[in-house]
Amino acid sequence: MKTHTLLMPLDMHLHLRDGVMLENVAPLTAFTFSGALIMPNLVPPVDTLEAVQSYKQRIMAAVPNDYFESYMTLFYKNYDKAFLENVVDEITAIKLYPAGITTNSEGGVSSFDIEEMRVTLEAMSELGIPLCVHGETDGFVMDREAEFMSIYELLAKNFPKLKLVMEHITTKAAVDMLDKYDNLYATITVHHLLLTLDDVVGGMMMPHHFCKPIAKRPEDLDALLGVALEAHPKVMFGSDSAPHPQHKKESCGCAAGVFTAPIALQLLTEIFEQFDKLDNLQSFVSDNAQNIYGICPEFKEVTLEKRPFVVPENYAGVVPMYAGEVIGWAIESVD
Ligand code: DOR
Ligand code: ZN
Repeated sequence: MKTHTLLMPLDMHLHLRDGVMLENVAPLTAFTFSGALIMPNLVPPVDTLEAVQSYKQRIMAAVPNDYFESYMTLFYKNYDKAFLENVVDEITAIKLYPAGITTNSEGGVSSFDIEEMRVTLEAMSELGIPLCVHGETDGFVMDREAEFMSIYELLAKNFPKLKLVMEHITTKAAVDMLDKYDNLYATITVHHLLLTLDDVVGGMMMPHHFCKPIAKRPEDLDALLGVALEAHPKVMFGSDSAPHPQHKKESCGCAAGVFTAPIALQLLTEIFEQFDKLDNLQSFVSDNAQNIYGICPEFKEVTLEKRPFVVPENYAGVVPMYAGEVIGWAIESVD
């Protein structure tokens, strides 16, 4: 039986929510990942020191053991330097959402006026706090990410010491931007390494493939695979696994988000094996993130086995990607 072992897998973009949902989904990630960068788009958003600390406590109470690190983020606002100095030791990054662009982002940024953001972004540069960005405009849905490239350029040029992470990139435009600025990095999800718009609305409408940013064209998928499979050193895995209750997805007005946390490593292994790039998966799923964020995760050794695995129909009321379908790899052991 063919196996593949990964050390200290990291998910550098994860939604855990709160309350019962948190209790249901956090153990699924903590089982196979050493750590995850936790998104702050709760209601209300995580935007104070107290909110960060208490959310982290609730996450750690929800995971069954200590072998998991929740790397916390703060919801971007124009914070002053004193506030950031106070919170810097508790967070790994700050996450910026354009206002209203996706789930629970109403309190996000409505103007990218560099002068309005300067105090915050200069303080973040000095304190070494990376800025993670949901890079979409409010333009036509297929063009939103490409249209945002000029804002990434503005930020990258004006704040050369600020680490900027283009979150969940979906386009060739974003891939092409990566090497233009030293301070630009990116995360890629597993679903965006598998889907194009055809898999969302090309046949029957597939609510569990619907997310923001939406999956794009075949040439975009090829560009993403290009940098992921080579484990480009500025690219990391971030699942953007986003749990919504089944009735919020399978309804009129489907919530955006693909739930992949429990099958992400299995799918990644399948993709990397298919392209004969398994040797690069360790960098994509852990080493690059360790280097970019300067983090040292808890030891964890995950062994996957090449055998058919039927994806469960749901996890406590949340339907995963490929529910009920057979995928090619399964988790064999976790030490
Ligand atoms: O599809 C998405 N769902 N994209 C996001 O950016 C947020 C996420 C969520 O929180 O559900
Ligand atoms: Zn997200």
